[in-house]
Amino acid sequence: MGKQKVSIQVLREMKDRGQKFTMITAYDYTTAVLVDQSPIELILVGDSLGMTMLGYEATVPVTMEEMIHHIRPVVRGARNTFVVGDLPFGSYNESISQAIHNGNRIMKEGGADCVKLEGGVNVAPTVKAMVDGGIPVMGHIGLTPQTASLLGGFRVQGKDADSARRLLEDALAIEAAGAFCVVMECVPTPLARLITERLSIPTIGIGAGPHCDGQVLVFHDLVGLFKRFKPKFVKQYADLGTEVSGALERFVREVADGTFPGPEHSFGMSGEILKDLE
Ligand code: KIV
Repeated sequence: MGKQKVSIQVLREMKDRGQKFTMITAYDYTTAVLVDQSPIELILVGDSLGMTMLGYEATVPVTMEEMIHHIRPVVRGARNTFVVGDLPFGSYNESISQAIHNGNRIMKEGGADCVKLEGGVNVAPTVKAMVDGGIPVMGHIGLTPQTASLLGGFRVQGKDADSARRLLEDALAIEAAGAFCVVMECVPTPLARLITERLSIPTIGIGAGPHCDGQVLVFHDLVGLFKRFKPKFVKQYADLGTEVSGALERFVREVADGTFPGPEHSFGMSGEILKDLE
């Protein structure tokens, strides 16, 4: 039987069975088709597209229009994969009605299966209102890149007793507000394990050790296409950047020495017609 899109219920059952699952970012149709052909259960159209696709320094400048522009082709390519659409910075921090408005846009205009937003106790009322309004929400706690400067930069969260307790409270608040799942970024392994055990909703780790219910990576990191920086938690499974650079160099060389295009890449025509033209 072919791949079937997971449901929120199935993710919960996988947690209960101790069966791990995976999520990967994708920002375009071609990558979405590749992921759809793999066993990966979820695609995140993350605001990390600000760096990987748009060349920004951070995720903060990403707009709703840019998110929707990238979510739509992913949804077209990923018919059997659950698609998560990120709410970008500034799209849910003004008011609950702004958050619901933009959550609706991610689902109606983008076609995503749910939205993801960053924050813990501080966004719990927003999450509750969105879920009450029928928008499935994935949380994101720990290192929250949209507000990294408030956290003292891109660093591991929850290392001392106070911040570990705050992180646990964030996780519990997000669950109580009705989120169906929560991403934990840059959290020490023992704390991520404790939170995963305390929650009945699944946790997805990125830099949070092996005990989370699922794992997520950024596609460009996993395949070696983004080399501007490499966080410790990234495992690079392929080196496509080097492959692509080699292919571009071979193309230039073959054009210069006349080996490309060869007869197999060119079109012939009848010599008679040509003679008429001469
Ligand atoms: O935007 C993104 O890619 C993310 C992941 C790092 C979880 O939020």
